[in-house]
Amino acid sequence: MSRRSIFYVLGVVALSATAADLARHGYVSGSKAVGLKKGRGAAAEAARYGFGREATTADFAKHDHLIGSKGTGLPKGRGTGKEGRVIYAQSCAACHGLRGEGSNDYPPLVGGQDSLKSDKPLPTVGSYWPYATTVWDYVNRAMPYQNPGTLKPSEVYALTAYLLAMNGIVSEDFELNERTLPAVKMPNRDGFVPDPRPDVK
Ligand code: HEC
Repeated sequence: MSRRSIFYVLGVVALSATAADLARHGYVSGSKAVGLKKGRGAAAEAARYGFGREATTADFAKHDHLIGSKGTGLPKGRGTGKEGRVIYAQSCAACHGLRGEGSNDYPPLVGGQDSLKSDKPLPTVGSYWPYATTVWDYVNRAMPYQNPGTLKPSEVYALTAYLLAMNGIVSEDFELNERTLPAVKMPNRDGFVPDPRPDVK
């Protein structure tokens, strides 16, 4: 990956996180978040440092579909773990390992079930994440790391199915779609306690 594209990826991810944060608190919604770029002086920064470009509406659109725990707003699509295995080998295994075991600094996506209360907790999609819907959302918006926002909905269903299958949560033939995904119960679904503090208004 060239230095230029690294900065581009970091820039887009940082800006979209800010837009998503604001959208969650109701200040802006969807593509209106694009107005932020001016306040941030993105164009001026780009000129000063000689790299990057202003984020466009299309850039934001790739990232601003938040799918919450209930799965509201999931797009139509379908995929099984078997289908996901092929995509995973091409787009994900280089960093996360062929079986999701992780590599170097890249996190494992498999294993660790029943380890969370031990001396060596291993938080992964299988052991830690409480909702399959947010796995879908994360992969959809943030992966593959060097090219986020490029996967089609059915590819994300297939990849999520494969991650769940590798963790023994569903079988490789199980079809994930906008209806079956929210019904999947993750092993650590009840492992979180609600935070009683009031949300920021
Ligand atoms: C270039 C390396 C790279 C590639 C390729 C890649 N990832 Fe990742 N992935 C990462 C890094 C780095 C993180 C941690 C990001 C962070 O914590 O901010 C991560 C985090 C994740 C997580 C969250 C793990 C956790 O428990 O926090 C999931 C799920 C994931 N990736 C899935 C995928 C899938 C599916 C693909 C293929 C479509 C993929 N990744 C491709 C580097 C990569």
